Amino acid sequence: MGRSDPLPSGEGHRPTIMMPHRGPQPEPPVIESAPDSGADFRPLRRDKGEMTHMARADLLKRLFRAHRDRDDDAFRSVADELVGNELKKRHVVLAKELREILRDDVRSGSYVPATTSHFDPVPYDPDRRIPLVTIRVPDRSFRDLVLATEIRSTLDRIGEEIRNREVLQAYGLHPVRTALFCGPPGCGKTATAEALSNHLGLPLLYVRFDSVVSSLLGETASNLRRVFDYASTGEWVVFFDEFDAVGRSRDDATEHGEIKRVLNAFLQLLDGFSGRSIVVAATNFEQVIDPALWRRFDEILRFDLPSAQSLSLAIEHKLRSLAPNQSTITSLVNQLEGRSFSDAERICVDIRKSCAIEGVGQITPSILRRALERQESRHSALSRSKHDAHPPRIDDR
Ligand SMILES: Nc1ncnc2c1ncn2[C@@H]1O[C@H](COP(=O)(O)OP(=O)(O)OP(=O)(O)O)[C@@H](O)[C@H]1O
Ligand SMILES: [Mg+2]
Repeated sequence: MGRSDPLPSGEGHRPTIMMPHRGPQPEPPVIESAPDSGADFRPLRRDKGEMTHMARADLLKRLFRAHRDRDDDAFRSVADELVGNELKKRHVVLAKELREILRDDVRSGSYVPATTSHFDPVPYDPDRRIPLVTIRVPDRSFRDLVLATEIRSTLDRIGEEIRNREVLQAYGLHPVRTALFCGPPGCGKTATAEALSNHLGLPLLYVRFDSVVSSLLGETASNLRRVFDYASTGEWVVFFDEFDAVGRSRDDATEHGEIKRVLNAFLQLLDGFSGRSIVVAATNFEQVIDPALWRRFDEILRFDLPSAQSLSLAIEHKLRSLAPNQSTITSLVNQLEGRSFSDAERICVDIRKSCAIEGVGQITPSILRRALERQESRHSALSRSKHDAHPPRIDDR
């Protein structure tokens, strides 16, 4: 999607965001600053970890060679070393700014790994021989989404904390580590995790529960351990999708020993998980999530069904190449009211396809009418077949 058409946040589509209580904050340390460098730098001091002249010269040569050879991976590895050296010298703010520039590089698309081959091989379920995770470098951005004001500001805050990690650590504080996205299907949980990954300049480590959940006793917990072990090898947005498979309440009547074991393993792994990643879990069935799990999440974001205004903004954006008039947008919003962004996406794609096939640059009344009819017949077919609103049982898979 294009990045040049920022979408305003959807007013009137305001989910409740519950913020966990945070304990008392430690006193910030006093940061001394060099006389002529503003408050950014601590006084220069030769540390044990500080580089020699030779080592620095070597690093600079490697940096220049990487540029000459257009070798992005080599460039980033030297750049990371330089940032690390600034950190050792306690130039926290400079290190942060350098890292920011590198992230801008990722965000602007000038550094996008062509393949994911430079990551370690991903873990597999040993029995079924299927990968437990996939690595994605999404190009979806917040500007492609209509987000409620509260959601957008919480996401911005997460970004701010992660970008200021070193500053926070100097004060004995840590950035947000965990977030739970909940809400009905098609309302942007996965899309937002992708946009967050893009925003932070971190790859998305995508974990689907249907691959992690094994029918073999004890194997699910081992798979989870494999996923967390792998996650600790890098810096990611670790995204546990369809999280309800593991997050079901321990008081649930359908509970059995395996769920308990899996849940406890997940909680232990989540508590013990350190490193620079953020763990995001998404569920449609937050009402059955164990209270012990709710407490583990630093941020909880609720993605509700969109308001008419949010739908209108989303449709306008999704059809921007066809410059729809107001009456077309109103017809679509009227039809889609009470439905998800995903339904809006489907009907907009349908219209764009028809315009492409008919070779027209604008939405004709007949294209609109047929798209509305197709959407309606799909919706009534789905309503007729929908009889089970419960999450899949862990042992049904
Ligand atoms: N906030 C949004 N603004 C614009 N489009 C959106 C938004 N949220 C979702 N969409 C569209 O709907 C599609 C489906 O959304 P997504 O996969 O994120 O839903 P989900 O909440 O993860 O659903 P599920 O619970 O079924 O996994 C997206 O690919 C996107 O095109
Ligand atoms: Mg999803």
